[in-house]
Amino acid sequence: MDSILAIVGARPNFMKIASVLGALRGVDVPTPLVHTGQHYDETMRDTFFQQLGIPEPDVDLEVGSASHTVQTAEIMIRFEPVLERFAPSAVLVVGDVNSTMACALVAAKKQVPVIHVEAGLRSRDRSMPEEINRVVTDQVSELLFTTERAARENLIQEGVADEKIHFVGNVMIDSLLRNAERSVPFRSSFERFGRLQLVEDGKYGVVTLHRPSNVDEPRVLTALLECLERVAKRIPLIFPVHPRTSARLAAMGRTPSNDSPLLMVPPLGYLEMAGLMKHAAVVLTDSGGMQEETTALGVPCLTLRENTERPITVTEGTNTVVGSDPDRIEHEVAAILTTGGKQGKCPEFWDGKASERIRDVLLRWLRLRGAIEEKVHG
Ligand code: UD1
Repeated sequence: MDSILAIVGARPNFMKIASVLGALRGVDVPTPLVHTGQHYDETMRDTFFQQLGIPEPDVDLEVGSASHTVQTAEIMIRFEPVLERFAPSAVLVVGDVNSTMACALVAAKKQVPVIHVEAGLRSRDRSMPEEINRVVTDQVSELLFTTERAARENLIQEGVADEKIHFVGNVMIDSLLRNAERSVPFRSSFERFGRLQLVEDGKYGVVTLHRPSNVDEPRVLTALLECLERVAKRIPLIFPVHPRTSARLAAMGRTPSNDSPLLMVPPLGYLEMAGLMKHAAVVLTDSGGMQEETTALGVPCLTLRENTERPITVTEGTNTVVGSDPDRIEHEVAAILTTGGKQGKCPEFWDGKASERIRDVLLRWLRLRGAIEEKVHG
């Protein structure tokens, strides 16, 4: 019987797998789930499983944190026997984290077809670990599901056969739309940290930062933090701090102050972030997912990176790539507060139905493979 082994590892995978598994739930193809354990904290993992209704994984590889090389290697070593045990018809990976690439590589080496959801995105910046993960995963994939039309061109340029590529839309936006009603009101999030008075007039911004290029170098991180403190004097900012970033801040001896309009808090759940983003005047981030979520919500986003692998958020959406220059960031925030920022439109197929399209393609593909195998083996 056909089965598809689904993989998750890190926080940005969870909202993607939730909608794919949801669409496959009513179908007669089992989808066992493997969690690599790349993210393991309650705030980085458990909250997301609960809030998004992701079933408990059948296997947890419990790799935890390590250098990228060690983490990737450990996932590969621990995943191989699991793959042999489940012997699935295909392995389904999402996004671009180390877990995505590691499991895709193992499957390819065992000649198990790889299905990649969110294929073909390119920043053309190979200093980003995610770019390597994207390129490698796409090269070994049999079925590639894309979120925007430019992704197909990227894949074709890299020699991927056209018939393997399917433009289906954005499964992360499926989750966002599905959970819109359940999102936590922004006032509750400020209240939880005893800072409701910060949003008396209902205006605030949201910040996230975790890319090594922004947080690993103390000089860069200090400049960004000082910039955010200046911005927060114009508009209060809530900043859920990723563990990587809080470790760097602690090493620099920076502890969050209790009365600053830059409200630094622990990582928040999916529904809390969705509620905060929905009503924000501006979002400042280096996350990939939030560039897309703000575009879908019509909220202005400033991406604190030199490039983006998600160009449609700039050409059609509300995103502006501003880099990490403090003057530019302050200037762009001021412009948004004066004009309301880019209006944008919701990109094609970011309509809440991407995972249903994936399901339909997948079922056709499985049927076709079954028919071919029957012919070959009698
Ligand atoms: C990973 C992904 C990145 C994604 C991000 C979202 C890669 C290459 N990077 O980066 O694409 O945007 O997740 O969060 O896969 N840590 C904890 N608890 C956890 C997980 C991590 O404390 O549950 C800390 C550890 O100190 C760890 C550090 O965060 O060393 C970084 O974690 P890691 O998984 O290596 O990468 P991220 O920076 O989270």
